[in-house]
Amino acid sequence: PAPAPLDLKNIQGDILSGLPKKTQFYIFFNITNVARFRKDLKKFIPLVKTVAGVLEDRKAIDDHKKKKLPGLVTLSGVNISFSHQGFVKLGIDDTGLAAGGAQDPFVVGQKKDAITNLGDPANKDGTLPDWDPAFLKDIHGVFLISGDSILTLEKKKLEIAVIFGVGTPNTSIKEIITIRGDVRPGDESAHEHFGFLDGISNPTIKGFDTVINPGPKPVDAGVLLTGHTGDPALDIRPDFRPDWATDGSFLSFRYLFQEVPEFNDFLTKNPLAKDGNGKALKPEEGSELLGARMVGRWKSGAPIDVAPFKDDPALAADPKRNNNFEFAGEINSQLRCPFAAHVRKTNPRDDLEVPPPPRGPISIDGRRIMRRGVQFGPELTYREQQEGKTLHARGLLFACYQSSLTNGFQFIQKSWANNKTFPPFETQPEDPGLDPIIGQGVREMSGLDPLNEQKLLTMPAFVVPRGGEYFFSPSIKGLKSTIAT
Ligand code: HEM
Repeated sequence: PAPAPLDLKNIQGDILSGLPKKTQFYIFFNITNVARFRKDLKKFIPLVKTVAGVLEDRKAIDDHKKKKLPGLVTLSGVNISFSHQGFVKLGIDDTGLAAGGAQDPFVVGQKKDAITNLGDPANKDGTLPDWDPAFLKDIHGVFLISGDSILTLEKKKLEIAVIFGVGTPNTSIKEIITIRGDVRPGDESAHEHFGFLDGISNPTIKGFDTVINPGPKPVDAGVLLTGHTGDPALDIRPDFRPDWATDGSFLSFRYLFQEVPEFNDFLTKNPLAKDGNGKALKPEEGSELLGARMVGRWKSGAPIDVAPFKDDPALAADPKRNNNFEFAGEINSQLRCPFAAHVRKTNPRDDLEVPPPPRGPISIDGRRIMRRGVQFGPELTYREQQEGKTLHARGLLFACYQSSLTNGFQFIQKSWANNKTFPPFETQPEDPGLDPIIGQGVREMSGLDPLNEQKLLTMPAFVVPRGGEYFFSPSIKGLKSTIAT
Protein backbone atom coordinates (compact mmCIF):
# COMPACT_ATOMS: atom_id res chain seq x y z
CA PRO A 1 0.00 0.00 0.00
CA ALA A 2 1.08 3.57 -0.69
CA PRO A 3 2.38 5.29 2.44
CA ALA A 4 -0.01 7.74 4.12
CA PRO A 5 0.63 11.33 3.01
CA LEU A 6 2.74 13.34 5.42
CA ASP A 7 1.31 16.30 7.31
CA LEU A 8 3.59 18.92 5.77
CA LYS A 9 2.20 21.69 7.97
CA ASN A 10 3.27 19.79 11.07
CA ILE A 11 6.91 19.08 10.15
CA GLN A 12 9.69 21.65 10.54
CA GLY A 13 10.92 22.78 7.15
CA ASP A 14 14.63 22.09 7.37
CA ILE A 15 14.07 18.36 7.89
CA LEU A 16 12.50 17.38 4.58
CA SER A 17 12.99 20.40 2.36
CA GLY A 18 15.97 22.33 3.64
CA LEU A 19 15.31 25.99 4.49
CA PRO A 20 16.34 28.04 1.44
CA LYS A 21 19.65 29.62 2.30
CA LYS A 22 22.25 32.06 1.23
CA THR A 23 23.23 32.65 4.82
CA GLN A 24 22.24 31.06 8.15
CA PHE A 25 22.47 31.62 11.90
CA TYR A 26 22.65 28.79 14.37
CA ILE A 27 21.76 30.45 17.68
CA PHE A 28 22.53 28.16 20.61
CA PHE A 29 20.72 29.13 23.80
CA ASN A 30 19.95 28.26 27.39
CA ILE A 31 16.56 28.55 29.01
CA THR A 32 16.81 30.87 32.01
CA ASN A 33 13.17 31.18 33.03
CA VAL A 34 11.15 28.04 32.38
CA ALA A 35 7.66 29.34 33.07
CA ARG A 36 8.18 32.40 30.91
CA PHE A 37 9.92 30.42 28.16
CA ARG A 38 6.96 28.09 27.76
CA LYS A 39 4.64 31.10 27.40
CA ASP A 40 6.98 32.94 25.04
CA LEU A 41 7.28 29.81 22.93
CA LYS A 42 3.57 30.01 22.17
CA LYS A 43 4.16 33.41 20.54
CA PHE A 44 7.20 32.07 18.71
CA ILE A 45 5.53 29.01 17.12
CA PRO A 46 3.84 30.96 14.27
CA LEU A 47 7.33 31.99 13.13
CA VAL A 48 8.41 28.38 12.57
CA LYS A 49 8.71 27.51 8.89
CA THR A 50 7.19 24.12 8.08
CA VAL A 51 7.80 21.90 5.08
CA ALA A 52 4.62 23.34 3.51
CA GLY A 53 6.04 26.85 4.04
CA VAL A 54 9.34 25.96 2.37
CA LEU A 55 7.51 24.53 -0.65
CA GLU A 56 5.70 27.88 -1.02
CA ASP A 57 9.02 29.76 -0.69
CA ARG A 58 10.54 27.58 -3.39
CA LYS A 59 7.69 28.52 -5.71
CA ALA A 60 8.39 32.20 -5.03
CA ILE A 61 12.07 31.63 -5.82
CA ASP A 62 11.19 29.85 -9.10
CA ASP A 63 8.81 32.68 -10.11
CA HIS A 64 11.50 35.23 -9.35
CA LYS A 65 13.95 33.35 -11.55
CA LYS A 66 11.42 32.87 -14.35
CA LYS A 67 10.66 36.59 -14.39
CA LYS A 68 14.43 37.21 -14.45
CA LEU A 69 14.07 39.74 -11.63
CA PRO A 70 17.30 41.09 -10.15
CA GLY A 71 18.72 39.95 -6.79
CA LEU A 72 17.20 37.37 -4.48
CA VAL A 73 13.65 37.14 -3.09
CA THR A 74 13.61 38.38 0.50
CA LEU A 75 13.04 35.16 2.39
CA SER A 76 13.64 33.79 5.82
CA GLY A 77 12.85 30.65 7.71
CA VAL A 78 13.10 29.77 11.38
CA ASN A 79 13.29 26.33 13.00
CA ILE A 80 13.82 25.32 16.63
CA SER A 81 15.29 22.21 18.27
CA PHE A 82 15.94 21.10 21.84
CA SER A 83 18.67 19.05 23.46
CA HIS A 84 17.99 16.43 26.13
CA GLN A 85 19.35 18.93 28.69
CA GLY A 86 16.77 21.38 27.35
CA PHE A 87 13.93 18.96 28.09
CA VAL A 88 15.40 18.27 31.54
CA LYS A 89 15.46 22.01 32.22
CA LEU A 90 11.88 22.35 30.99
CA GLY A 91 10.76 19.46 33.19
CA ILE A 92 9.43 17.60 30.16
CA ASP A 93 9.64 13.81 30.17
CA ASP A 94 11.42 12.92 26.92
CA THR A 95 11.53 9.13 27.33
CA GLY A 96 9.29 8.91 24.24
CA LEU A 97 12.15 10.33 22.21
CA ALA A 98 15.23 8.28 22.98
CA ALA A 99 14.65 4.67 21.99
CA GLY A 100 18.05 3.72 23.40
CA GLY A 101 17.15 4.85 26.92
CA ALA A 102 20.00 6.19 29.05
CA GLN A 103 22.55 5.01 26.46
CA ASP A 104 20.89 6.85 23.59
CA PRO A 105 23.26 9.46 22.12
CA PHE A 106 20.49 12.05 22.49
CA VAL A 107 20.40 11.46 26.24
CA VAL A 108 24.17 11.11 26.62
CA GLY A 109 24.80 14.33 24.67
CA GLN A 110 27.46 14.94 22.06
CA LYS A 111 30.08 16.21 24.51
CA LYS A 112 30.42 12.71 26.00
CA ASP A 113 29.62 10.89 22.78
CA ALA A 114 32.45 12.74 21.02
CA ILE A 115 34.90 10.92 23.29
CA THR A 116 33.15 7.56 23.66
CA ASN A 117 31.99 7.02 20.11
CA LEU A 118 32.86 9.72 17.61
CA GLY A 119 36.62 9.60 18.14
CA ASP A 120 37.19 13.34 18.59
CA PRO A 121 40.73 13.92 19.93
CA ALA A 122 40.50 13.87 23.74
CA ASN A 123 42.85 14.30 26.69
CA LYS A 124 43.36 11.49 29.20
CA ASP A 125 41.23 13.36 31.73
CA GLY A 126 38.30 13.24 29.34
CA THR A 127 38.45 16.83 28.12
CA LEU A 128 38.17 17.89 24.49
CA PRO A 129 41.13 20.15 23.68
CA ASP A 130 39.85 21.22 20.26
CA TRP A 131 36.31 22.05 21.31
CA ASP A 132 35.14 25.65 21.49
CA PRO A 133 34.27 26.48 25.14
CA ALA A 134 30.71 27.36 24.08
CA PHE A 135 30.05 23.69 23.27
CA LEU A 136 31.55 22.49 26.55
CA LYS A 137 28.60 24.14 28.32
CA ASP A 138 25.16 22.55 28.53
CA ILE A 139 23.13 23.81 25.60
CA HIS A 140 19.33 23.68 25.84
CA GLY A 141 18.31 24.45 22.32
CA VAL A 142 19.09 26.01 18.99
CA PHE A 143 17.29 28.40 16.68
CA LEU A 144 18.14 28.01 13.04
CA ILE A 145 17.49 31.13 10.99
CA SER A 146 17.98 30.92 7.27
CA GLY A 147 17.54 33.52 4.58
CA ASP A 148 18.63 35.53 1.58
CA SER A 149 20.83 38.08 3.36
CA ILE A 150 22.45 39.00 6.62
CA LEU A 151 20.01 41.91 7.00
CA THR A 152 16.99 39.57 6.79
CA LEU A 153 18.61 37.31 9.38
CA GLU A 154 19.41 40.15 11.77
CA LYS A 155 15.80 41.35 11.58
CA LYS A 156 14.49 37.85 12.30
CA LYS A 157 16.92 37.44 15.18
CA LEU A 158 15.67 40.69 16.68
CA GLU A 159 12.06 39.53 16.34
CA ILE A 160 12.94 36.36 18.26
CA ALA A 161 14.88 38.31 20.88
CA VAL A 162 11.83 40.52 21.53
CA ILE A 163 9.54 37.48 21.96
CA PHE A 164 11.83 35.93 24.56
CA GLY A 165 12.55 39.23 26.29
CA VAL A 166 16.27 39.22 25.55
CA GLY A 167 17.86 42.28 27.14
CA THR A 168 15.15 42.61 29.80
CA PRO A 169 15.69 41.50 33.43
CA ASN A 170 13.43 38.45 33.25
CA THR A 171 14.42 37.23 29.80
CA SER A 172 13.55 33.57 29.28
CA ILE A 173 16.65 32.66 27.24
CA LYS A 174 20.36 33.39 27.19
CA GLU A 175 22.35 33.17 24.00
CA ILE A 176 25.43 30.94 24.31
CA ILE A 177 26.86 31.43 20.85
CA THR A 178 25.61 32.36 17.40
CA ILE A 179 27.46 30.85 14.48
CA ARG A 180 26.96 32.26 11.03
CA GLY A 181 27.20 30.12 7.91
CA ASP A 182 27.45 31.41 4.36
CA VAL A 183 27.11 29.70 1.04
CA ARG A 184 30.37 30.29 -0.85
CA PRO A 185 30.46 33.01 -3.52
CA GLY A 186 30.15 32.80 -7.31
CA ASP A 187 31.05 29.54 -9.02
CA GLU A 188 31.94 27.98 -5.66
CA SER A 189 28.33 28.29 -4.48
CA ALA A 190 27.18 24.82 -3.29
CA HIS A 191 30.81 23.68 -3.07
CA GLU A 192 32.32 22.98 0.33
CA HIS A 193 35.64 24.61 1.27
CA PHE A 194 37.89 21.85 -0.15
CA GLY A 195 36.23 22.70 -3.46
CA PHE A 196 33.88 19.74 -4.00
CA LEU A 197 30.25 20.16 -5.00
CA ASP A 198 28.12 19.14 -2.01
CA GLY A 199 24.48 18.39 -1.35
CA ILE A 200 24.06 16.02 -4.30
CA SER A 201 23.09 12.77 -2.60
CA ASN A 202 20.37 13.01 0.02
CA PRO A 203 17.69 10.35 0.50
CA THR A 204 14.37 10.71 -1.32
CA ILE A 205 11.33 9.85 0.76
CA LYS A 206 8.39 7.61 0.00
CA GLY A 207 5.12 9.54 0.08
CA PHE A 208 6.88 12.91 -0.15
CA ASP A 209 9.30 13.29 -3.04
CA THR A 210 7.71 13.53 -6.45
CA VAL A 211 10.89 13.77 -8.49
CA ILE A 212 12.87 10.56 -8.08
CA ASN A 213 16.06 10.57 -10.11
CA PRO A 214 17.95 7.37 -10.86
CA GLY A 215 20.08 6.41 -7.87
CA PRO A 216 19.49 5.03 -4.39
CA LYS A 217 15.84 4.01 -3.89
CA PRO A 218 13.49 6.20 -1.82
CA VAL A 219 13.45 5.35 1.87
CA ASP A 220 10.51 5.06 4.29
CA ALA A 221 9.58 8.39 5.89
CA GLY A 222 10.41 6.87 9.28
CA VAL A 223 14.11 6.77 8.47
CA LEU A 224 14.02 10.53 8.96
CA LEU A 225 10.80 11.24 10.84
CA THR A 226 9.92 9.85 14.24
CA GLY A 227 6.73 7.81 14.49
CA HIS A 228 6.52 6.69 10.86
CA THR A 229 7.12 3.33 9.17
CA GLY A 230 10.86 2.82 9.18
CA ASP A 231 11.44 4.51 12.56
CA PRO A 232 13.40 1.82 14.46
CA ALA A 233 11.78 2.88 17.77
CA LEU A 234 8.53 1.36 16.48
CA ASP A 235 10.26 -2.04 16.29
CA ILE A 236 10.71 -1.89 20.05
CA ARG A 237 7.03 -1.09 20.60
CA PRO A 238 4.55 0.12 17.94
CA ASP A 239 3.27 2.73 20.39
CA PHE A 240 6.74 3.86 21.50
CA ARG A 241 6.23 7.41 20.26
CA PRO A 242 3.65 9.51 22.07
CA ASP A 243 1.75 11.88 19.77
CA TRP A 244 3.93 14.85 20.64
CA ALA A 245 7.04 12.90 19.63
CA THR A 246 5.89 12.01 16.09
CA ASP A 247 6.70 14.03 12.95
CA GLY A 248 9.95 15.17 14.55
CA SER A 249 13.56 14.37 13.78
CA PHE A 250 16.91 14.22 15.55
CA LEU A 251 19.43 16.83 14.47
CA SER A 252 23.14 16.20 14.78
CA PHE A 253 25.05 19.47 14.61
CA ARG A 254 28.85 19.42 14.21
CA TYR A 255 31.15 22.45 14.15
CA LEU A 256 33.76 21.16 11.69
CA PHE A 257 36.84 23.23 10.82
CA GLN A 258 38.53 22.48 7.51
CA GLU A 259 42.24 22.98 6.96
CA VAL A 260 42.07 23.84 3.30
CA PRO A 261 45.66 24.97 2.48
CA GLU A 262 46.97 21.85 4.25
CA PHE A 263 44.56 19.66 2.24
CA ASN A 264 45.69 21.32 -0.99
CA ASP A 265 49.32 20.91 0.04
CA PHE A 266 48.79 17.18 0.64
CA LEU A 267 47.31 16.79 -2.86
CA THR A 268 50.21 18.74 -4.38
CA LYS A 269 52.81 16.61 -2.57
CA ASN A 270 51.24 13.22 -3.41
CA PRO A 271 50.18 13.35 -7.07
CA LEU A 272 49.26 10.05 -8.69
CA ALA A 273 51.76 9.28 -11.46
CA LYS A 274 49.34 7.30 -13.60
CA ASP A 275 45.60 6.76 -13.88
CA GLY A 276 43.96 3.31 -13.70
CA ASN A 277 44.59 2.70 -17.39
CA GLY A 278 48.30 3.28 -16.95
CA LYS A 279 48.22 6.67 -18.65
CA ALA A 280 50.90 9.06 -17.31
CA LEU A 281 49.46 12.13 -15.59
CA LYS A 282 50.84 15.65 -15.26
CA PRO A 283 51.39 16.57 -11.59
CA GLU A 284 48.24 18.78 -11.47
CA GLU A 285 46.18 15.98 -13.01
CA GLY A 286 47.63 13.48 -10.52
CA SER A 287 46.75 15.75 -7.60
CA GLU A 288 43.24 16.30 -8.91
CA LEU A 289 42.71 12.54 -9.31
CA LEU A 290 44.02 11.96 -5.77
CA GLY A 291 41.49 14.44 -4.35
CA ALA A 292 38.67 12.91 -6.37
CA ARG A 293 39.61 9.45 -5.07
CA MET A 294 39.57 10.69 -1.47
CA VAL A 295 36.05 12.07 -1.85
CA GLY A 296 34.62 9.65 -4.44
CA ARG A 297 33.56 12.54 -6.65
CA TRP A 298 35.40 15.13 -8.73
CA LYS A 299 35.20 18.74 -7.61
CA SER A 300 32.51 19.18 -10.26
CA GLY A 301 30.42 16.55 -8.44
CA ALA A 302 30.84 13.83 -11.09
CA PRO A 303 31.01 10.42 -9.34
CA ILE A 304 34.26 8.56 -9.95
CA ASP A 305 32.41 5.25 -9.96
CA VAL A 306 31.02 6.44 -13.31
CA ALA A 307 33.89 8.67 -14.48
CA PRO A 308 36.89 7.11 -12.74
CA PHE A 309 39.88 8.81 -14.34
CA LYS A 310 38.66 11.97 -16.05
CA ASP A 311 36.28 14.62 -14.78
CA ASP A 312 32.97 14.86 -16.64
CA PRO A 313 31.21 18.18 -15.89
CA ALA A 314 28.21 17.25 -18.08
CA LEU A 315 27.69 14.12 -15.96
CA ALA A 316 28.05 16.21 -12.79
CA ALA A 317 25.35 18.64 -13.92
CA ASP A 318 22.83 15.98 -14.94
CA PRO A 319 20.58 15.00 -12.01
CA LYS A 320 19.46 11.92 -13.92
CA ARG A 321 23.01 10.57 -13.95
CA ASN A 322 25.04 12.20 -11.19
CA ASN A 323 23.77 9.95 -8.42
CA ASN A 324 23.15 6.81 -10.46
CA PHE A 325 25.88 4.47 -9.28
CA GLU A 326 26.11 1.56 -6.84
CA PHE A 327 29.78 0.49 -6.88
CA ALA A 328 28.19 -2.58 -8.44
CA GLY A 329 30.85 -3.17 -11.06
CA GLU A 330 33.56 -3.21 -8.45
CA ILE A 331 32.48 -5.26 -5.49
CA ASN A 332 35.79 -6.40 -4.02
CA SER A 333 37.75 -3.89 -6.06
CA GLN A 334 38.86 -0.33 -5.59
CA LEU A 335 40.13 0.27 -9.09
CA ARG A 336 37.47 2.88 -9.86
CA CYS A 337 36.63 4.12 -6.35
CA PRO A 338 38.54 3.44 -3.12
CA PHE A 339 36.52 1.60 -0.46
CA ALA A 340 37.29 4.40 2.00
CA ALA A 341 36.43 7.31 -0.33
CA HIS A 342 34.14 9.64 1.64
CA VAL A 343 30.99 8.91 -0.37
CA ARG A 344 31.61 5.14 -0.42
CA LYS A 345 32.22 5.04 3.35
CA THR A 346 29.20 7.12 4.23
CA ASN A 347 26.80 5.45 1.76
CA PRO A 348 28.27 2.13 0.59
CA ARG A 349 25.26 1.45 -1.66
CA ASP A 350 25.55 -2.06 -3.20
CA ASP A 351 28.69 -2.86 -1.19
CA LEU A 352 26.26 -4.00 1.48
CA GLU A 353 23.19 -4.80 -0.59
CA VAL A 354 24.77 -7.39 -2.83
CA PRO A 355 25.31 -10.63 -0.94
CA PRO A 356 28.70 -12.16 -1.68
CA PRO A 357 28.66 -15.21 0.64
CA PRO A 358 28.93 -15.54 3.57
CA ARG A 359 27.34 -12.14 4.06
CA GLY A 360 23.67 -11.75 3.30
CA PRO A 361 22.17 -8.57 1.91
CA ILE A 362 22.10 -5.83 4.53
CA SER A 363 19.71 -2.96 3.93
CA ILE A 364 21.41 0.35 4.38
CA ASP A 365 18.16 2.32 4.12
CA GLY A 366 18.09 2.76 7.90
CA ARG A 367 21.51 4.39 7.82
CA ARG A 368 20.56 7.23 5.51
CA ILE A 369 20.72 10.78 6.85
CA MET A 370 19.41 14.09 5.50
CA ARG A 371 22.37 16.49 5.30
CA ARG A 372 21.72 20.22 5.68
CA GLY A 373 25.12 21.78 6.22
CA VAL A 374 26.39 25.21 5.30
CA GLN A 375 29.89 26.62 4.96
CA PHE A 376 31.38 29.15 7.33
CA GLY A 377 34.41 31.39 7.16
CA PRO A 378 36.13 33.33 4.39
CA GLU A 379 37.60 32.22 1.09
CA LEU A 380 41.32 31.35 1.13
CA THR A 381 43.55 34.38 1.30
CA TYR A 382 46.59 34.91 -0.91
CA ARG A 383 48.85 34.48 2.10
CA GLU A 384 47.26 31.16 3.07
CA GLN A 385 47.71 29.91 -0.49
CA GLN A 386 51.35 30.97 -0.49
CA GLU A 387 52.18 29.56 2.94
CA GLY A 388 50.04 26.40 2.70
CA LYS A 389 48.81 27.10 6.22
CA THR A 390 45.38 27.88 7.64
CA LEU A 391 45.26 31.38 9.11
CA HIS A 392 41.48 31.93 9.18
CA ALA A 393 38.77 29.70 10.64
CA ARG A 394 36.58 28.08 7.99
CA GLY A 395 34.71 24.87 7.50
CA LEU A 396 31.33 23.22 7.54
CA LEU A 397 28.43 23.69 9.93
CA PHE A 398 27.47 20.07 9.47
CA ALA A 399 23.85 19.28 10.24
CA CYS A 400 21.91 16.13 9.54
CA TYR A 401 18.49 14.74 10.42
CA GLN A 402 17.41 11.17 11.16
CA SER A 403 14.88 9.28 13.30
CA SER A 404 17.68 7.52 15.19
CA LEU A 405 21.08 9.01 16.00
CA THR A 406 22.34 5.54 16.87
CA ASN A 407 21.50 4.21 13.41
CA GLY A 408 22.29 7.35 11.47
CA PHE A 409 24.98 9.93 12.21
CA GLN A 410 26.64 8.13 15.13
CA PHE A 411 26.83 4.84 13.26
CA ILE A 412 28.25 6.40 10.10
CA GLN A 413 30.96 8.25 12.01
CA LYS A 414 31.85 5.49 14.45
CA SER A 415 31.34 2.21 12.63
CA TRP A 416 32.08 3.28 9.08
CA ALA A 417 34.24 6.44 8.83
CA ASN A 418 36.47 5.62 11.83
CA ASN A 419 36.61 1.88 11.14
CA LYS A 420 39.55 0.81 9.00
CA THR A 421 38.04 -2.60 8.18
CA PHE A 422 34.81 -1.20 6.70
CA PRO A 423 33.49 -2.11 4.17
CA PRO A 424 34.50 -5.71 4.90
CA PHE A 425 35.62 -7.51 1.77
CA GLU A 426 36.85 -10.99 2.46
CA THR A 427 38.61 -11.41 -0.85
CA GLN A 428 40.64 -8.26 -0.62
CA PRO A 429 43.89 -8.47 1.37
CA GLU A 430 44.09 -4.78 2.28
CA ASP A 431 41.97 -2.89 4.79
CA PRO A 432 40.05 0.05 3.31
CA GLY A 433 41.39 2.39 6.01
CA LEU A 434 39.73 5.51 7.43
CA ASP A 435 37.50 8.00 5.68
CA PRO A 436 40.12 10.54 4.50
CA ILE A 437 37.77 13.49 5.03
CA ILE A 438 36.13 12.80 8.40
CA GLY A 439 37.78 9.64 9.79
CA GLN A 440 39.19 9.99 13.32
CA GLY A 441 42.07 7.80 14.48
CA VAL A 442 45.15 6.49 12.67
CA ARG A 443 44.53 8.14 9.37
CA GLU A 444 45.66 5.96 6.51
CA MET A 445 43.79 4.44 3.60
CA SER A 446 44.36 2.05 0.72
CA GLY A 447 43.09 2.25 -2.83
CA LEU A 448 44.22 5.79 -3.62
CA ASP A 449 46.62 4.53 -6.30
CA PRO A 450 44.44 2.64 -8.77
CA LEU A 451 47.42 0.65 -10.04
CA ASN A 452 48.50 -0.36 -6.54
CA GLU A 453 45.32 -0.87 -4.53
CA GLN A 454 47.14 -2.34 -1.55
CA LYS A 455 49.37 0.68 -1.05
CA LEU A 456 48.56 2.66 2.10
CA LEU A 457 48.82 6.42 2.23
CA THR A 458 49.04 8.15 5.62
CA MET A 459 47.56 11.59 6.00
CA PRO A 460 47.02 14.26 8.65
CA ALA A 461 43.54 15.32 9.79
CA PHE A 462 42.11 17.95 7.47
CA VAL A 463 38.83 18.28 9.39
CA VAL A 464 38.87 19.22 13.08
CA PRO A 465 35.64 18.88 15.12
CA ARG A 466 35.33 21.86 17.47
CA GLY A 467 31.95 21.20 18.97
CA GLY A 468 28.40 20.13 18.41
CA GLU A 469 25.30 18.75 20.08
CA TYR A 470 22.37 16.44 19.46
CA PHE A 471 18.91 17.98 19.27
CA PHE A 472 15.32 17.00 18.61
CA SER A 473 13.26 19.08 16.16
CA PRO A 474 9.67 18.61 17.30
CA SER A 475 6.53 18.84 15.20
CA ILE A 476 4.35 21.95 15.38
CA LYS A 477 1.76 19.94 17.34
CA GLY A 478 4.51 18.76 19.71
CA LEU A 479 5.65 22.34 20.25
CA LYS A 480 2.08 23.50 20.91
CA SER A 481 0.79 20.60 22.98
CA THR A 482 3.73 19.68 25.15
CA ILE A 483 6.54 22.20 25.06
CA ALA A 484 4.66 25.52 25.11
CA THR A 485 2.00 26.38 27.66
C1 HEM B 1 28.70 13.38 0.77
C2 HEM B 1 32.07 16.64 1.96
C3 HEM B 1 31.32 15.68 6.67
C4 HEM B 1 28.25 12.17 5.46
C5 HEM B 1 29.66 14.35 0.69
C6 HEM B 1 30.16 14.94 -0.54
C7 HEM B 1 31.10 15.85 -0.19
C8 HEM B 1 31.21 15.85 1.24
C9 HEM B 1 31.91 16.73 -1.14
C10 HEM B 1 29.71 14.57 -1.95
C11 HEM B 1 28.51 15.33 -2.39
C12 HEM B 1 27.20 14.64 -2.20
O1 HEM B 1 27.08 13.43 -2.49
O2 HEM B 1 26.29 15.29 -1.74
C13 HEM B 1 32.16 16.65 3.35
C14 HEM B 1 33.06 17.50 4.10
C15 HEM B 1 32.84 17.23 5.42
C16 HEM B 1 31.81 16.21 5.50
C17 HEM B 1 34.05 18.46 3.49
C18 HEM B 1 33.48 17.84 6.64
C19 HEM B 1 33.99 19.03 6.70
C20 HEM B 1 30.46 14.62 6.75
C21 HEM B 1 30.03 13.98 7.98
C22 HEM B 1 29.19 12.96 7.63
C23 HEM B 1 29.06 13.00 6.19
C24 HEM B 1 30.48 14.38 9.39
C25 HEM B 1 28.49 11.97 8.51
C26 HEM B 1 29.03 11.42 9.57
C27 HEM B 1 28.06 12.24 4.10
C28 HEM B 1 27.08 11.45 3.39
C29 HEM B 1 27.22 11.80 2.03
C30 HEM B 1 28.28 12.80 1.95
C31 HEM B 1 26.09 10.45 3.96
C32 HEM B 1 26.41 11.26 0.86
C33 HEM B 1 26.99 9.97 0.35
C34 HEM B 1 26.16 9.41 -0.79
O3 HEM B 1 24.96 9.23 -0.59
O4 HEM B 1 26.73 9.17 -1.84
N1 HEM B 1 30.32 14.93 1.76
N2 HEM B 1 31.43 15.89 4.22
N3 HEM B 1 29.84 14.00 5.68
N4 HEM B 1 28.74 13.04 3.22
FE1 HEM B 1 30.12 14.41 3.72
